[in-house]
Amino acid sequence: MAIIYNEQTKTFTIHTEKSTYQMKVDQHGMLLHTYFGAPTDESDYSYLIVPEDRGFCGQPAGAGDDRTYSMDFYPQEYPVHGNSDFRVLCLKAGLKGHVPTLDLRFFSYHISRGKYALSGLPALFGEDEAETLEIVLKDLFEEIYVHLYYGVFEEKNVITRTAVIENRCKEPLEIKRAMSLCLDFMDNDMELVHFYGKHACERQFERVPLLHGIVEIGSRRGASSHQHNPFVVLCRKETTEDAGACCGVSLLYSGSFRIQAEAGQIEGTRLVCGMDDDEFCWTLEPGESFTAPEAVFSYTEKGFSDLSNGLKAVFHQNLIRSEWKDKKRPTLVNSWEAAYFDFNAEKLLAIAKEAAELGLDMLVLDDGWFGVRDDDNSGLGDWNVNEGKLGCSLRELVDCVNKMGLQFGIWVELEMVSEDSNLYRSHPDWAMAVPGRDPNRSRNQLVLDLSRAEVRQYIKNVIDTLIQSANITYIKWDMNRSMDNLYSAAEPGAPQGVVRHKYMLGLYEILEYIHQTYPEVLVEGCSGGGGRFDAGMLYYTPQIWCSDNTDAVERLGIHYGTSFGYPMSSVAAHVSECPNEQNRRVTPFQTRGICAMQGAFGYEMDLSAMLPEEKDCAKEQIAVYNQNYRLFQQGDYYRITSPYENHDVTVWSYVSRNKETAVLCGVYTDLHGNAAPARAKWKGLEEGAVYDVDGRKFTGMALMRGGIVLPKPECNYDSFMIFARKV
Ligand code: GLA
Repeated sequence: MAIIYNEQTKTFTIHTEKSTYQMKVDQHGMLLHTYFGAPTDESDYSYLIVPEDRGFCGQPAGAGDDRTYSMDFYPQEYPVHGNSDFRVLCLKAGLKGHVPTLDLRFFSYHISRGKYALSGLPALFGEDEAETLEIVLKDLFEEIYVHLYYGVFEEKNVITRTAVIENRCKEPLEIKRAMSLCLDFMDNDMELVHFYGKHACERQFERVPLLHGIVEIGSRRGASSHQHNPFVVLCRKETTEDAGACCGVSLLYSGSFRIQAEAGQIEGTRLVCGMDDDEFCWTLEPGESFTAPEAVFSYTEKGFSDLSNGLKAVFHQNLIRSEWKDKKRPTLVNSWEAAYFDFNAEKLLAIAKEAAELGLDMLVLDDGWFGVRDDDNSGLGDWNVNEGKLGCSLRELVDCVNKMGLQFGIWVELEMVSEDSNLYRSHPDWAMAVPGRDPNRSRNQLVLDLSRAEVRQYIKNVIDTLIQSANITYIKWDMNRSMDNLYSAAEPGAPQGVVRHKYMLGLYEILEYIHQTYPEVLVEGCSGGGGRFDAGMLYYTPQIWCSDNTDAVERLGIHYGTSFGYPMSSVAAHVSECPNEQNRRVTPFQTRGICAMQGAFGYEMDLSAMLPEEKDCAKEQIAVYNQNYRLFQQGDYYRITSPYENHDVTVWSYVSRNKETAVLCGVYTDLHGNAAPARAKWKGLEEGAVYDVDGRKFTGMALMRGGIVLPKPECNYDSFMIFARKV
């Protein structure tokens, strides 16, 4: 059993392979958090909490004149607003018209086999390998209940959490904040790793010490965003890739979120994570309940590589549901950087012809094929094929592409509408805008109100018509603006935070419909590149366009950051033309290929305009990817050097799960005269095994301890890809 309840000590101890987590119901019925760290026994760790009369730290009801019980200092499992804990909190709620105050005490618990499921929200799944602990807390004064759920994947070293708030009162309950997780550590010597960014520069690695005060990251944009990512790591100063304690926390939610880390006044570090509560006020009528999105966390003392590989494995096996998850992802050419809005069937077929000759699997028709859409100012919402522009029907185009031996994929942006569209002209109220004000435009488009059932039905109908109109096996699901001034004509006066969450529930409903109805279709997520790259989306879309920045060198940093919390199979990456469209950098064709092979591989350029030497190189790249796709998609991934620290060469590697094959890849980012030889140490190999590296034999131990000498760079941004195969 991974979950053990001790009746005498009233402790819940959860064991995973690399951690132990403990909670205790104390003498007042409070659920305290007593241990989280390296695996240990079921001792009652509440002895670590030292009672003491501490100034300005209040006591809960029932503590009487015991001034040593400090709500503001004790580690709590699900801290609430209004009960003398002034740190960052999980829950703020109260009966309508009353001061929001709660005092939650232990009510009951239940342990069961299998992982709990959530309706309408992404969540890990697992039958025999998981257990569920449900702890019910009840407000001391009202019939308000909070169900804390823990899904424990013992062998996979992962625990999930969520909270369900239930109103059994006779009056409505208003929830102003409902976080998914709180982690209270008893000391405050910690650091936070998080991933910030902007459009075309997502998931940049940053590691900061947690000083006194609150470090907060989050999004108020209606999507998890380019700017911050709902995945963070708490670690120690000494933690490295290979050793040291670290705890990764991932929120399975694709909308606005908030993660706060606070170093406490008298030691102690608290991390809370959940949906953004800005302008949030969810009304629960009597008998109703509200479910906070799921959070997943994992602890190891073996450093960042171990943490990342563990999380990737569990996301791959217990989050991604697509039929495509273990299949070779189609190598593709996408029309966006190849043609933008300027194409017809002839041009597309010329690209497809080259793609087929090179050995690619698919042509993806990106933006511009529908309505009146020759730039990004019009047409969103009118999802009828522009046959005049194409010069044929979609079915005719797809049939021709299929005849060349290629599959066909298509881009959609169904969450949005252009004002210059028939959809907007006939349903202006379907777009979100504050009445009486000019709507906020971004990319000249408005957001459709996905909280409304008729809008969702319209989108489902579009998908049905599209998929049934031709042999479409891939959809790129895009979303290209942040959400602002949210107002739903169906629910005038609803707080923006509520509309935002209902929008997300609506989006998940649509994506679930696609998953259920068209399980064979591969859906790739996208939001101006990686503006919605989060574990919530992976539940519906097994891969996500990682960034609109296709420059191989900038992608080094983007892939490095993304690799901390996400499986490489989810990272869509393409080779594009040079000078690069986003930053005008020129890199060798080989380097662009090596960088793009860090995930779901493809091209984003006019293949019909390639130079002969580029064609040869592309043919080889596609063959290498095809031969080794399992390694690239499912191998353990090791960050060998960091582009944020080593400005000369960025090196990474994949090792197959059975350690039979490995590949070490790298890109030189600077050159020097009279340079020292560059060396790199492999990771994750079998120490005693012998590996063949370009005809030379090395033990795994030699490759990992001594390393290898890297090939000398011949030009700017030169790169290498070196295979090791067990002999
Ligand atoms: C977004 C995507 C791009 C492309 C364009 C089309 O920016 O990230 O890949 O699909 O939209 O408008």
